[in-house]
Amino acid sequence: MREDSNSKKAMEVFLADKAGMCFGVRRALDLARQAGAGLGDGSEARVLGQLVHNRQVSEWLASQGVEEISGADPENLKAGGVYIIPSHGKGPFIYDIIESKGGTLVDATCPFVVQALKKAKSLREEGYFLLIYGDPGHEEVLGYQEWLGESCQVVKDFEAELKNLALPAKLAVMAQTTANQAEFVRFVDWLHDRGYQPLVLDTICSATKERREAAEKLAAQVDAMVVIGGKNSANTKNLAAYCQKFTPTFLIETKKDIDPSWLAGLKSIGITAGASTPEWIIKEVVEMMEEFKDQEQVQEQAVAAQENETDHEVEANFSDMEAEMGCLEFHPGDVVKGTVVKVSPDEVLVDIGYKSEGIIPAFELAFTKVDPQSVVKVGDEISVEVVKEDREGNVILSRKNALFEERINALEEALEKGEPVTATVIDVVKGGLLVDVGMRGFVPASHVERGFVKDLSEYLKQTLDFKILELNRQGRKVILSRKALLEEEYQKIKESFWSTIEEGQTRKGVVKRLTDFGAFVDIGGCDGLLHVSEMGWGKVAKPSDVVAINDEIEVYVLKVDREKEKISLSLKKLIANPWDLASEKYQVGGIYTGKVMRGASFGAFIQLEPNLEGLAHISQLARFRVNKVEDVLTEGMEIPVKILDINLEKKRISLSVKEAIDLPKLTKDEVQEEKAAPAAPAAEEAPSEAEMKEDETQTDAVNEAIEE
Ligand code: F3S
Repeated sequence: MREDSNSKKAMEVFLADKAGMCFGVRRALDLARQAGAGLGDGSEARVLGQLVHNRQVSEWLASQGVEEISGADPENLKAGGVYIIPSHGKGPFIYDIIESKGGTLVDATCPFVVQALKKAKSLREEGYFLLIYGDPGHEEVLGYQEWLGESCQVVKDFEAELKNLALPAKLAVMAQTTANQAEFVRFVDWLHDRGYQPLVLDTICSATKERREAAEKLAAQVDAMVVIGGKNSANTKNLAAYCQKFTPTFLIETKKDIDPSWLAGLKSIGITAGASTPEWIIKEVVEMMEEFKDQEQVQEQAVAAQENETDHEVEANFSDMEAEMGCLEFHPGDVVKGTVVKVSPDEVLVDIGYKSEGIIPAFELAFTKVDPQSVVKVGDEISVEVVKEDREGNVILSRKNALFEERINALEEALEKGEPVTATVIDVVKGGLLVDVGMRGFVPASHVERGFVKDLSEYLKQTLDFKILELNRQGRKVILSRKALLEEEYQKIKESFWSTIEEGQTRKGVVKRLTDFGAFVDIGGCDGLLHVSEMGWGKVAKPSDVVAINDEIEVYVLKVDREKEKISLSLKKLIANPWDLASEKYQVGGIYTGKVMRGASFGAFIQLEPNLEGLAHISQLARFRVNKVEDVLTEGMEIPVKILDINLEKKRISLSVKEAIDLPKLTKDEVQEEKAAPAAPAAEEAPSEAEMKEDETQTDAVNEAIEE
């Protein structure tokens, strides 16, 4: 529709596909008219405020005997009469007053507002706190606030108003029915970025969206737009602001506001109207434009007669040239394919077959800040959405919007089929991870792993698979879970594990956890318990003496309890029992090297080889009196020992240190002292059962308690 400035065609007038009164306004007007018409008894009909945001409608209502009483103190309302609630609704207070005054109530609240309030109230009952995105002075928002009380907060400039506020986790957000959709989405994204996962109510009225889309589409194609509506109407002001992005726009209330000079030189003009604008006003404006168009045509004919043929040739040639170039016409919202022709730090130029290359500003490339060069390169064929044509005639494009459509469709399909999706972790926020899944996604902390994760930062920049838990196209929200996927995998592994595990098997495992009584070993589907008593043939003081976390070990399956899903493991079953060979390898009277393992009040335990220990009674440690083992020996010391006795039945070896060491000659006093010292007990007597037990009591008691 836009023409070259040299074109001499008459001005064309276009009316947007959707323009003027919406269902809610029309209904309110009808109800008010009926209320006024029904009065013949001297009573009066009054609207409690402005029925709709349009002065001409107010004037017409007055002519029908329906008075608007904006700002009147409700307490001072006259008794009786008919009271009309405007289309934007009111709080509960006014309903009570009218009832108390015996008035007849005509509720013209738009059903969409009623519906939004109903949803909000039911969420309040469920314990949600509601953020209402909208104009705090607007009647609709004031009404919500009055109904919801302390369970809500109205938000307009969210970045400033909510910056330092900690919001409840059970959070829901809704918008004024006439709110700006893009801004509301930005608000929801802002909450997501801060780790909140609000429930998003779809309360923006489709009538508003339809009028906006139709207006934008038209505005992108004409030389100027006229928006008709009340200057106090949020809906109309928003509409004018949207159009202004595409083309010069004039906001008028009636045809009287039109200044003909605006139209000078225009080749096309578009007309739209806010949702409160009655049809008769739109008709008047269109008719006036048509009249002007005719005048333009007359002028054009006169001018055309004076123009030489050359102009016509130029025009014809230009049209031919455009046709040859294959120039196309685009509309905002169209998704087209193009080839990247230039990438700079601020923008990307794309050939979409238009007169000039389309521009993708850097911020329209992805939903996070990206370096254009890391995302696209010259020659790439990409999909882009047409945003608008700016005043210089450049087509502004968005890659992220085109991707969003592609991606959300793919995500919806994955959700339906229960398939996993791949995403990269882009940030760690309060309560979870933000991920790039072609759009911004959120993974709650409790859904990152099967167990608790202390530090989420280790996941940053990792690319992982997730399952979709929740997807909301309207709120541009996707919640993902890695845990759900891991759980599924774990269940499969577990099933196969329990169908194959048998007692007597040898399995590879990884030590996952250590306790006082043993170690838990993951043997591929289940953690089995390796009790400390099964860690070796000799005495094991503590599990960490034998294994460490993440050690990969082989274990023997001792016991399988399928019902309780418990497995008992053993290490010592896989090791030869050193006692079986002890009598062949060691002789009584022989001297061997041993390692001091630990001391007790009655002597020292000395290892001859792994899992084979003997006891050197305290009297056998030196040729002089020893009060405490640590006075002469330290743990880990390697020393010569002499075997005094081997008792295979009781699995005991008696050792002597003093007889294995060639000690210096004793002094006279030391000889006396040695004589006074108790004699070395025989192997089978020393140490006593009681003494041995004393050392082991504590550990065994713990082990037994655990086993029970
Ligand atoms: Fe109702 Fe939507 Fe109109 S909320 S008043 S139908 S703009």
